[in-house]
Amino acid sequence: MLLWGCLFIMLDVLLQPEFRAASLPLHMDSVIQILAQIEQEAPILHPTVPGLLLMSGSPIDFFQHQLLSGVPSPAELQLDLLGPELRALAISLIQHRVGSGQEHGVVLAPDGSTVAVEPLLAGLQVGLHGRRAMAIPLEFRSSPSEVRDAHKEKGLTLAPQVSTTLQDVGDISLDPTILPDVHANSPTSVDNLLAVTLARALGIAFLPGPGTHTPKGLGPDGCWDEISAPKTFSLLSSESPSALTVAFLNGALDGALLGDYLSRGPKPHSPLSHILTQYYGAGVGGDPQFRSNFRRDNGAKLTSQEALAQQVWGSLLLIQELEPSHPHLVNLSQAQLAEVATQAAKEFTEAFLECPAILPRCRWEAAPYRGSPRMLNLPLGFLYVHHTYEPHKPCTSFSQCAADMRSMQRFHQDTRGWDDIGYRWGSRGNLPLYDIQKQSFVVGTDGYVYEGRGWHWVGAHTRGHNFLGFGVSIIGNYTATLPAAHSLKTVRDTLPRCALRAGHLRPDYTVQGHRQLVHTDCPGDALYRHISTWPRFGEVKKKA
Ligand SMILES: *[C@@H]1O[C@H](CO)[C@@H](O)[C@H](O)[C@H]1NC(C)=O
Ligand SMILES: *[C@@H]1O[C@H](CO)[C@@H](O)[C@H](O)[C@H]1NC(C)=O
Repeated sequence: MLLWGCLFIMLDVLLQPEFRAASLPLHMDSVIQILAQIEQEAPILHPTVPGLLLMSGSPIDFFQHQLLSGVPSPAELQLDLLGPELRALAISLIQHRVGSGQEHGVVLAPDGSTVAVEPLLAGLQVGLHGRRAMAIPLEFRSSPSEVRDAHKEKGLTLAPQVSTTLQDVGDISLDPTILPDVHANSPTSVDNLLAVTLARALGIAFLPGPGTHTPKGLGPDGCWDEISAPKTFSLLSSESPSALTVAFLNGALDGALLGDYLSRGPKPHSPLSHILTQYYGAGVGGDPQFRSNFRRDNGAKLTSQEALAQQVWGSLLLIQELEPSHPHLVNLSQAQLAEVATQAAKEFTEAFLECPAILPRCRWEAAPYRGSPRMLNLPLGFLYVHHTYEPHKPCTSFSQCAADMRSMQRFHQDTRGWDDIGYRWGSRGNLPLYDIQKQSFVVGTDGYVYEGRGWHWVGAHTRGHNFLGFGVSIIGNYTATLPAAHSLKTVRDTLPRCALRAGHLRPDYTVQGHRQLVHTDCPGDALYRHISTWPRFGEVKKKA
């Protein structure tokens, strides 16, 4: 009886909005909690929940208003049901911005990635009401500034009181491959889902700023103050960073993927709180690959680089007309907009979508490096493949992979007296302690790559060769079995391709197994046999 009493008091405290808001960490679970509360207390609001939250941030702009369907009118706003504190938390979560070295409006997801909430909600809102092609009014397409001048002459102002409402020209939820005008010259419509999540933000980030010719482009990743109770997110590069951060792109991709999923899925939908719990946890719709960990692979299936370029161009055309005073867009010609869009789609595809997601050291809570690191002289000519041997079990979740990383680092630093994370020798290799092993990168089976020494610092993974190549280790014992297909693809294709593009690897780079250079069984018989079939695999030239 006493026990029950205590439990009720505890529950009571937990359910106080004030208590929750004060204690809610910036974690995806908090977003899910906010959604769940609205869904539970006002089921009738279900289709408008994301729009409702978006409006609670800043007044949504004209662009969003035109492209997000089903957004409630201000009179319908019922955010008070969240209570003042939870509402304040929602508002702070929803406004994405970067400034003073920090990024706001982002949360830590269970997969270890950081996600911007605003583009995620925009994608969900579109998904609930159907992904549509929205026609760009004809006069916008011809020559935007002329149209504007003509309107001005007639004493008309286009924005923000544009009388035109974008026309819905079709349901594209069933076959996203039939995107409008992929091959036409000038876009005649935009896909509302891609426009509100990704395309507009991409276009703006790649516009040359006023008075400068260099666009900001893709932005940095960052570090949480505390992984267990995240409150602030500091960017890894703070010199006027682009708002198109890794977290923003994660949120935009999640918004686009979940919006597409909702748009195709059977109705009525499950509550959003359930869908997000699955997507960030166990996989949506019974598909283990459809989850946040694999957002880049799934995003690549959602649209092609060419189709995305058209969407970015279309979005820029729309902003130019809807927000004529936009400082970056004044006086840009059609041809310039098309060029910006092409560049944005190319960078996004080649430097983000088709690259592995690398979690920086701070995100697996690495202990600081001991000793004095030396810089690599890039580009390098080799990629050395390792397995960790121990831990022998492939890690399939962020919490497990990050724990493996920490335990390897602890073992190597404390037990072995090494500087940093390395790998353990194979059964045959009886290596002396001075053979310090520090990997450049470690690949998990959770879809992520974990940063060890990274691209710029000399590792100690392959004795006698640490200045010549990067060491990449896959967590697990691959003596008798192979790593997951996704991990193999990362080491064979995506990681080297992106390193090549970034100038970290030489165009003629070679892949080798650790055992080719050092007396060891690493990377395990099975994995070694497999990598010896790769096109970039190279025999070691014997010294004459
Ligand atoms: C845009 O063009 C107009 C007329 O050609 C000019 O007066 C104005 O200064 C230009 N604005 C910018 C920001 O370049
Ligand atoms: C690694 O795998 C091999 C082959 O299955 C096995 O004999 C060995 O004991 C394993 N080592 C560890 C540390 O799990």
